Amino acid sequence: MTTLLALADLHAHYGDSHVLRGISLDIPAGVSFGLLGRNGMGKTTLIRTAMGYVRATAGTVAWSGRTVTGAPPERMARLGIGYVPEGRGIFANLSVRENLVMAARAGPDGARDWSLERVLATFPRLAERLGHGGQQLSGGEQQMLAIGRALLTNPRLLILDEATEGLAPHVVAEIWRTVAAIRSTGIATLIVDRNVRAVLAHTDRAAILEKGRVVLAGESAALTADSDALTRHLGV
Ligand SMILES: Nc1ncnc2c1ncn2[C@@H]1O[C@H](COP(=O)(O)OP(=O)(O)OP(=O)(O)O)[C@@H](O)[C@H]1O
Ligand SMILES: [Mg+2]
Repeated sequence: MTTLLALADLHAHYGDSHVLRGISLDIPAGVSFGLLGRNGMGKTTLIRTAMGYVRATAGTVAWSGRTVTGAPPERMARLGIGYVPEGRGIFANLSVRENLVMAARAGPDGARDWSLERVLATFPRLAERLGHGGQQLSGGEQQMLAIGRALLTNPRLLILDEATEGLAPHVVAEIWRTVAAIRSTGIATLIVDRNVRAVLAHTDRAAILEKGRVVLAGESAALTADSDALTRHLGV
């Protein structure tokens, strides 16, 4: 299996604060990877450093075997990473259709698997609201729009950071169903979510971060069964 994203001994700082302290992890093509950890342990920073929003102070980021440490976010996106950040990042003053159409492009290998039609079939609620402005959408619809935008870039890896945050339970369930559907298409995913059991149920592998280090990593099924470890590291 080709490794898509490989982080090796990655470090990052915010000023004097040493937030990532030597992270190593690999995400092979087609694999769903869960990133777990209590609040403030460095999950979002890991993603932002891999994407080039935060500077790596040591270590490397590689994509498909090529070192890309320090590459800007736009380059990482063009290489095939679709990133749905915490807080969604949609354009509130544009319509649903405009948000989607402006994101659309072929994937790094020329793939056009995800068209506007396919995204609308995946998220029928968006199809009903194509002319609405981003600010008129519910939180769940905004999240679906953010995921739809990322899919329209035809990524090889889709990163979801807290995609279910603040949503009603039935909307959360809909997001997880969509995550499962996306996973079944063979796109690799990197998933961060507060619901540990849901993350483990929707991923092949997972790693637990504590203070900027990976303290435990393995098959998601094995982690699910290790309730002692989940209690110790995550308090669940
Ligand atoms: N822009 C920033 N400037 C300074 N410190 C930051 C910044 N962003 C995050 N931090 C700090 O870095 C550490 C890691 O934060 P990060 O957001 O990566 O954690 P997280 O695991 O995503 O947490 P959460 O579950 O709350 O989203 C925390 O101590 C946080 O307070
Ligand atoms: Mg975070």
